[in-house]
Amino acid sequence: MVSAPTITEEITDLKRSRKAVLLAHHYQDPEIQELADAVGDSLELARQARDFQGDVIAFCGVWFMAETAKVLNPERTVVVPDRDAGCSLVDSCRVEDLQAWKRQNPEYTIVSYINTSVEVKAESDILCTSRNAVKIVNSIPAGTPVMFLPDINLGNYVKRQTGRDNMKIWPGACIVHATFPARRVSQARMQHPQALVAAHPECPGDVLAMADFIGSTSAIVDWCAAQDAPEFIVMTESGVRYSLEKLAPHKKFYFVANEQCNCSECPYMKRNTLEKVRDALRNLEPRVEVTPEIMSRARLPIERMLAVQ
Ligand code: 13P
Ligand code: SF4
Repeated sequence: MVSAPTITEEITDLKRSRKAVLLAHHYQDPEIQELADAVGDSLELARQARDFQGDVIAFCGVWFMAETAKVLNPERTVVVPDRDAGCSLVDSCRVEDLQAWKRQNPEYTIVSYINTSVEVKAESDILCTSRNAVKIVNSIPAGTPVMFLPDINLGNYVKRQTGRDNMKIWPGACIVHATFPARRVSQARMQHPQALVAAHPECPGDVLAMADFIGSTSAIVDWCAAQDAPEFIVMTESGVRYSLEKLAPHKKFYFVANEQCNCSECPYMKRNTLEKVRDALRNLEPRVEVTPEIMSRARLPIERMLAVQ
């Protein structure tokens, strides 16, 4: 008797028949990362999407990441396993509010974090991610007034690193990173005195002040693997544990619970499941659709970011 295919086999077959690529962020569950053609941070995944040559991108991350992939692939189909895989940062900057702000402050260059809606991207001059934010702001001539949006913690970090005093910052935040309390990092350090601290720049300033390293999800993974230290306190979403342990199986990684959920998981990222990945590839839904007008306006700031080396 022939047994029914496993869900892994179904996804592998669908990827082949659909000429699809499966891109996964580090925050996805291990079984999704295992089936992915590429795992990375948001900048690496945007680059993967830009260079893709097949028919379908199954984006296992959150909606704004898939919208970016769609803008870079107007002729291709882009699906996300769960339509409600959103982001609190995206929600913290509505396009109407940005348009109103721009009308009052037309002299400002708008630098938008990739964690924004495609409509906000269309209103922006250049994008950035956590990996290249300092570099992007430094690429803007000194003296130009900058509005950085929408992450207040990343914005303050960039402001400190670049020394720009003519930089305004939108008051948005990530529900996962912004609620990591510094006192819990201190407690973790007391419990693990040998551990080094690696933090994502979406964390609050007092948490970043305790960090030995600050960087994007992929940068954190690479840095922890490259250090001689055997233990790390990792201040980001706990999905990165899988990439960390894959690259550095003999090291120990500790995650700190935040005050939002008393955990370190992103509720949006965790909406995606293997079943939903299979269904998205089978039905080509939920599908990312962007109007041609927004698509062409959002493309320029994305391409400007990708051109900065
Ligand atoms: P990275 O660009 O570091 O992968 O971060 C994306 C994100 O959403 C962090 O919360
Ligand atoms: Fe958005 Fe925060 Fe989730 Fe990243 S961890 S996708 S910034 S809500």
